[in-house]
Amino acid sequence: MEDRVTELPTALENTQDGNAGIISRMFHVAFVEPKIPPNTGNAIRMVAATGCELHLIGPLDFDLSDARLRRAGLDYHDLASVRVHADLEAAWTVLASAGRVFAFTAKAKLSFADISYRPGDVLMFGPEPTGLSEELLTDPRITERVRIPMLSGRRSLNLSNAAAIAVYEAWRQNGFAGAG
Ligand SMILES: C[S@@+](CC[C@H](N)C(=O)[O-])C[C@H]1O[C@@H](n2cnc3c(N)ncnc32)[C@H](O)[C@@H]1O
Repeated sequence: MEDRVTELPTALENTQDGNAGIISRMFHVAFVEPKIPPNTGNAIRMVAATGCELHLIGPLDFDLSDARLRRAGLDYHDLASVRVHADLEAAWTVLASAGRVFAFTAKAKLSFADISYRPGDVLMFGPEPTGLSEELLTDPRITERVRIPMLSGRRSLNLSNAAAIAVYEAWRQNGFAGAG
């Protein structure tokens, strides 16, 4: 299936820069089948603030004009680079050439903070509430599975919080390149 980038609302269309732009981004944040619009809205605001690109991997149950999503993203939509992929197969054609792919899961043993992140890396997150599938977690295109530490007995963090924690650690390691 092809990417559905042309279906994006006008405010986001101008952020689509084709495959050539894939290496110009500091990091790529990939949300696999996100379900809760405000989480995606939060992530749109976060990638606008950090210069990352957000990849929304469908099928999606909402679209980018959803009021709940736009409210959470405030007026940052114009500043965000967001790409919608129809499905995982379509996303892999772009992401596999981007760089290393780190799958974030509370089930991993390795701490996300033990990775040395490089520009172009992909940080991948699963749907609320099920998380990334076992099939995806064991896909050979996944470089490593990593965990954000939590106190014992806690199941998981909120999706957009997990993504923000991961991006800021990766960006911190790279000297907050580009920050004003
Ligand atoms: C609400 S969580 C999904 C919870 C799901 N029960 C699970 O175990 O993955 C949504 C996504 O946030 C990320 N996430 C949440 N907490 C995490 C943690 N402690 N470590 C790594 N990723 C986490 C994962 O990518 C997860 O798929």
